[in-house]
Amino acid sequence: MSRYIVGITGASGSIYGIRLAEELLKKGDEVHLIMTDNGRMVTAHETGYAADTLTAHLKEYGGKLRSYDINDLFAPVASGSFKVDGMIVVPCSMAALARIATGISGNLLERAADVCMKERRRLILVPRETPLNSIHLGNMLALSQAGAVILPPMPAFYHGPQSISDVVDFIVGKILDNLGIENDLYKRWNGGL
Ligand SMILES: Cc1cc2nc3c(=O)[nH]c(=O)nc-3n(C[C@H](O)[C@H](O)[C@H](O)COP(=O)(O)O)c2cc1C
Repeated sequence: MSRYIVGITGASGSIYGIRLAEELLKKGDEVHLIMTDNGRMVTAHETGYAADTLTAHLKEYGGKLRSYDINDLFAPVASGSFKVDGMIVVPCSMAALARIATGISGNLLERAADVCMKERRRLILVPRETPLNSIHLGNMLALSQAGAVILPPMPAFYHGPQSISDVVDFIVGKILDNLGIENDLYKRWNGGL
């Protein structure tokens, strides 16, 4: 059993975070879910899940789910003494990216990300915006240099996706790969054999 923090911000693409949480819970992992206020609103808009229906949905996958109020700075994940195997902010807004890059730690998501970096634990940020300005790019460079992994949700087409679900699973598969978790969410390139 591993323990992961999944952060969902107000960028487009909360479906990636939901699919990731489903996969982690399905394999029996512990998922600590932190959604920003905008994350909750955009998730409701894009997927129809309100915060409570989302947690009810995720609980069907097994594992162990714990979700937090964004301002709960007394939560275990706010402390480096609470061990986690990694944190994934997916999708990551440019606003959250900027606040994490500057170490502001003004809410639980930003604090948990800051803790992961200071403890040298895996932090994966899945930024969603296009096009990117130099401020976005500078923040991503700073975060990468501080040890975070920048994993943009850029779809590939070499595996022949047929549906939106295939595109989503490709990105979630890449996140799981980066966490060192075996998965067959997408068809791997084998040189065309
Ligand atoms: C429907 C919708 C889609 C959005 N998509 C993005 C996006 O893809 N990337 C982004 O950086 N911000 C996006 N935003 C703006 C963010 O929600 C906004 O910057 C917000 O302050 C982010 O707050 P948070 O980081 O605390 O979640 C979107 C907003 C809405 C309403």
